[in-house]
Amino acid sequence: MSDLLIRGRVLTFIAEPQGIDDTAAYRYHEDGAVLVRDGKVVDTGDYAAISKLAGTDVEVADHRPNLVLPGLIDTHLHFPQTQAIASYGAQLLEWLNTYIFVEEQKFADAVHAAAVADRFYDELLSNGTTTAVAYCSVHPESVDAYFTAAEARGMRMVGGKVMMDRNAPDALRDTPQKGYDETKALIEKWHGRGRAHYAISPRFAITSTPEQMEMSQALVAENPTCYVQTHLSENHDEIAFATSLYPEAKDYTDIYARYGLLNERMLLGHCIHLSDREVGVLAETGSVAVFCPTSNLFLGSGLFDRDRFDKAGARWSVATDVGAGTSFSMLETMDEAYKVLHLRGQKLTPFNSFYRMTLGNARALGLEKHIGSLHAGADADIVVLDSSAKPAMEYRMRTAKSLLEELFVLQTMGDDRCVAEVYVAGKPMKPKAHGARG
Ligand code: GUN
Ligand code: ZN
Repeated sequence: MSDLLIRGRVLTFIAEPQGIDDTAAYRYHEDGAVLVRDGKVVDTGDYAAISKLAGTDVEVADHRPNLVLPGLIDTHLHFPQTQAIASYGAQLLEWLNTYIFVEEQKFADAVHAAAVADRFYDELLSNGTTTAVAYCSVHPESVDAYFTAAEARGMRMVGGKVMMDRNAPDALRDTPQKGYDETKALIEKWHGRGRAHYAISPRFAITSTPEQMEMSQALVAENPTCYVQTHLSENHDEIAFATSLYPEAKDYTDIYARYGLLNERMLLGHCIHLSDREVGVLAETGSVAVFCPTSNLFLGSGLFDRDRFDKAGARWSVATDVGAGTSFSMLETMDEAYKVLHLRGQKLTPFNSFYRMTLGNARALGLEKHIGSLHAGADADIVVLDSSAKPAMEYRMRTAKSLLEELFVLQTMGDDRCVAEVYVAGKPMKPKAHGARG
């Protein structure tokens, strides 16, 4: 295979920015390049130096004046909710019962699941997202559709079947044994196959009995390299219901702690209304709180308090949470993250936003060797962003004087129109636009 030399204004992080002008946290090459060979980054730097490393058989993809960054990472969304975004008028529990538990029943049909998977991956890639962590439905067929479509595109994806054995329609319930058996078989089939990673996924305390939590505990203990994902402390009615179902637990977080589910591979969606004790438990166990700003605003759930996590030394990541989240775009997600934190009196700098979407989220997944930055040896998952893609952006960019300003314009005004190209393991993969009824 020939080498690929991707030329543009290259930006990649090496650390979390500590303040607005922490230039040591990133590398920026105004005339930069990434050399790709066999799906991996050979090296990244100034074009003059990197172009010398290319073999004689080299293809050049000249993206100047666009920005070249690591592919974006989404740490929490729901694949079966692709067609249920923008479901009107309810908070979490009513929204789940009215819309989501109806929609997810369609995924018993493998043909439907495969068709939605195609659109799901088109949306991710159109938005420059090259790795995501998703919940599938309760049906193993949905997991097969999810990983089969990822494999066809060569994408590094994390996911798993939700386990739920109560407080859901019959058609969406498994049992403790069935949830265990199906999850075990799916782990054997998918975990570590190509770029696939399995996430053991008890949906949340409300939809799992103590017996199912015990089975989840066994799965986590038996499969230490798998991820674990669930939801925690998103909505006041949810918290009251969950804690009433587990009266012996000290609080919502303690439900998961008692079943040994909290570890550094645990991703906990939302974490909005936690006590100091609970934040402390997340910090101690290395669990990751997943901030989903568009979802938290859409469902009226509340405002994530990032500074509490930072002060406690607890880990956090960012995510869309489609379909309660209202966009597949990580740019739009960071726009809303900025506003949520602003309402809390907290600041999110543009460099920190771009760190979070890339290296920050990769670190939350423990995948920073492979994704999230453009260091030598990384997977060549790359996004090319055009900060003048919309007329209003182009007009605004005429007055932008710095990279910092440009990143803020991208995050505040940008969306899928700004994604000029996306590479998965070195292959250009930007989907063709779907027609209005495509
Ligand atoms: N809690 C349990 N299931 C879900 C879900 O599908 N979406 C959100 N936002 N919260 C949940
Ligand atoms: Zn969710």
